[in-house]
Amino acid sequence: MPEPDCGEMGVIMKIGIIGTGIIAVTGHIPAYVELGHEIIAVADIAPGRAEKFSKEWRIPYFFEDYKELLSLTEIEAVSICVPTYLHEQVAVDAMNAGKHVFLEKPPAFDEAGIRHIYETAQKTGRILLVGSNTVYHNQYQIAKEFVDSGRLGEVYSVKINRTQRREIPGGWLARKDLSRGFAITEGVTHNLDCILFMLGEPKPVSVTCVTYNMFSNYVPETYKYPIDAVESQKEDKPKETEDGVVALITLEGGRTILVECFRASNAEKSYNIMLYGDKAGLKLDLKQIYWENKEGGLTLYEEPQHGVFTEAELEFKSGKRNHVNAISHFIDCVKRGEQTLSNGERAITIMKIIDAMFLSAEQHGRQVIL
Ligand SMILES: NC(=O)c1ccc[n+]([C@@H]2O[C@H](COP(=O)([O-])OP(=O)(O)OC[C@H]3O[C@@H](n4cnc5c(N)ncnc54)[C@H](O)[C@@H]3O)[C@@H](O)[C@H]2O)c1
Repeated sequence: MPEPDCGEMGVIMKIGIIGTGIIAVTGHIPAYVELGHEIIAVADIAPGRAEKFSKEWRIPYFFEDYKELLSLTEIEAVSICVPTYLHEQVAVDAMNAGKHVFLEKPPAFDEAGIRHIYETAQKTGRILLVGSNTVYHNQYQIAKEFVDSGRLGEVYSVKINRTQRREIPGGWLARKDLSRGFAITEGVTHNLDCILFMLGEPKPVSVTCVTYNMFSNYVPETYKYPIDAVESQKEDKPKETEDGVVALITLEGGRTILVECFRASNAEKSYNIMLYGDKAGLKLDLKQIYWENKEGGLTLYEEPQHGVFTEAELEFKSGKRNHVNAISHFIDCVKRGEQTLSNGERAITIMKIIDAMFLSAEQHGRQVIL
């Protein structure tokens, strides 16, 4: 068994986890443990859940009320893994209680929510990482280096394509008042974060968006997620949140992001991001990277000689998985007192775009100027 790597300064951090659902249990807790940090407490409103995971992971304290976790002075930083409608309140409470915060995506319910979170981080001097863990994924870091080095030339357009067969949520993710959306908020937010990161954070100019809720009455045989504490999974209400979205986002300088995300569809399962550059193109095969958990997943398209085209699958050294990379960066920033690469500024732009996507969709695809 390899020695845990607690990061650059070898200091063990004392951590609290708020919300012990899927992403906490599969992403955050294992990552802190792998990095050798100490999880002091877990909190979850669902009776028995925090207790169950505290026993499983040998975590000393468990609570149903997250404010009790925040009152433990020894906890230095928290991961917030609760449903989206609670992100703003819990993040603000945590920073006001003196904790550094790793907040899961989507950043907040809307732009006003993430602005409140960002301003609280500034006011309290706490370190904030607004959770698109994917930015820290090896393949995105490599892709960004390709963009920054000029190898792709001018990246004038980016396409997100995600099609699944029946990824239909129950519980809070099916309710607009708790999650706001599904295909947009759970399917596109972190892709937008990575794209803006890779392109050097260009300003958005306009958004045109149409959403679909075509599978509202479809009951999947098993609910893959979420483990729902807020509502019964078995309730019979139709799903309110969108399962498909098509959008065009224009950026300063005339660049575009084309979004096609169908979490439920009658189409081939696929998931990728394509960067169109005038010197080269780069495809990130996210199906391979995330769903199949494989190495590689980057293909470079070039024309080395007039009329001669290459398509090269890149080979590179494998890196740590995304939550491990993201949490390692978060902790290193806490130790050094430095801002993270996801300190909330890009998240404000993302939520501005997302607000515009919902507004455009409400108006059947009218262009919204930002
Ligand atoms: N980064 C990723 O790849 C990724 C993947 C999935 C989910 N997420 C995000 O993570 C967050 C959680 O999603 P999930 O899939 O783990 O959901 P989940 O429903 O599985 O877990 C949420 C947990 O929060 C608990 N909770 C609800 N209200 C609470 C409260 N007031 N206090 C304490 N706990 C409370 C619930 O009981 C539940 O256990 C969401 O914002 C989601 O968008 C991110």
